[in-house]
Amino acid sequence: MKPGRLALLIALPLVAGVAVKADEAAIPGVHDAYQARTDYQLKCQGCHRPDGSGDDHSNPPMKGIVARFLGVPGGREFIGRVPGVATVDLPDDRLANLVNWTIYRFDPAHVPQDFRPYTAEEIGRLRQNPLRLERAATRARLVAGFAKTHSEQ
Ligand code: HEC
Repeated sequence: MKPGRLALLIALPLVAGVAVKADEAAIPGVHDAYQARTDYQLKCQGCHRPDGSGDDHSNPPMKGIVARFLGVPGGREFIGRVPGVATVDLPDDRLANLVNWTIYRFDPAHVPQDFRPYTAEEIGRLRQNPLRLERAATRARLVAGFAKTHSEQ
């Protein structure tokens, strides 16, 4: 192989790597966006779909809505306690990375200005208490609260 071509083969992934790194730095609470994307693909998108659109019957969309939970009392805790989040087989730091990524990736417009990204410690605490059957009613109550904040958003 010509040396020039070899140099190109080495340089291209490096350039791509730099681009990903720059992207990562831009998302609060996400120390590894590549890891988050991979974890989402493996652990979440089977239900929530690759583009976060969910489906019409059982799996809710993330796109354009998930950050609205952060704007109502109890919503922050709810996100850390839904079974899909709380019981996933990922360590706390990777899960915090993934949840923050999910919020900014799918619903940046609704992230409250004073949002503090989830930390591994907070996620670790919330997930110890996963929601069970009461989750449908809890979710419905939170979603009803969205309407009240609608005019402010
Ligand atoms: C087996 C399907 C399934 C998987 C896998 C799953 N979820 Fe969910 N998710 C749901 C359902 C259903 C709800 C609605 C609450 C409930 O009934 O659990 C939900 C709710 C949520 C919510 C709260 C927002 C809302 O609209 O209720 C977030 C945030 C969330 N999921 C993120 C994730 C993340 C991140 C992952 C991957 C680690 C994941 N989910 C994996 C099915 C799933």
